[in-house]
Formats: sequence, structure tokens, C-alpha cells
Amino acid sequence: MSLIRDLLKESGYSDKAAEYYLNRVNVGEMSEPDAYAIYTGPCGDTMEFFLKVEEEGKIKDASFQAIGCAGAFSSGSALCDMIRGKTLEDAGRIEEEEIIEYLDGIPMQKVHCACLAKRTLRKAIGQYKDKQGG
Ligand code: FES
Repeated sequence: MSLIRDLLKESGYSDKAAEYYLNRVNVGEMSEPDAYAIYTGPCGDTMEFFLKVEEEGKIKDASFQAIGCAGAFSSGSALCDMIRGKTLEDAGRIEEEEIIEYLDGIPMQKVHCACLAKRTLRKAIGQYKDKQGG
């Protein structure tokens, strides 16, 4: 047991959320992504989302980078896992509550961090669609 893991659990992160954060799951830049966006949330933290998109509009791969907290990192990690294999439309409809449910819980005051992940993904999807001409 690490001290950080204990602190995460004490502050309201589930085991799953703590593992996502500590293992930096899906964190990293992607070379030549089909879709990309960078977004800064109201808290001042920033996230980048990278997507590989198949011809049928399905998400083949996803990764992210962030200047942010454990809430932002666990949410970004989870969201990448949640959207692989989904259509852009379905991925773009995911709400922060679903991310938090998938994570089995993060602290109440971190809901906006899941929102940062959602908004960054939606921006990447929007820019991809604009590039495709709608
Ligand atoms: Fe800014 Fe969590 S405090 S993303």
C-alpha cells in the first residue's frame, strides 16, 4: 500500500479511480491523430485529447494529456477506455456522471474534473467533424 493510494481513498477516490490515476492509463501524446483538441476548464487546468478514427466513424484508439489533478487524470483515463469502439456520436453523448459511475466514484468536489475530460473529448469530436465538412 502506498501513502498516495491511501490518501486518494481517504479523499473519496474508488480503488478503480486510484489505479487509473496511479498507472497513468491512456496518458500520452499520439502521433498523427485523426482528431485532436486542447481545452482549459474554468479551474485553469488543461487537457488534450487524441483520437484515431476508423472510416465508419468509430473510435479506434484514444489517449490524452493533462495539466491537472487526480480527478482529471482518472476521468481522462476512464473516458479513453469508455469510447474505444464507439461511434463519434455515442462518445460525444457521454456525460460526466457516466464517467464517474464507470470509475466507481471520485470526490464530489471533483465532478468538474470529469467535465473537463468530457468537454475536451467533445471539442476533439467537433473539430474532427468540421474537418470532414460536417
Ligand atoms: Fe482542475 Fe481537477 S481541479 S481538473
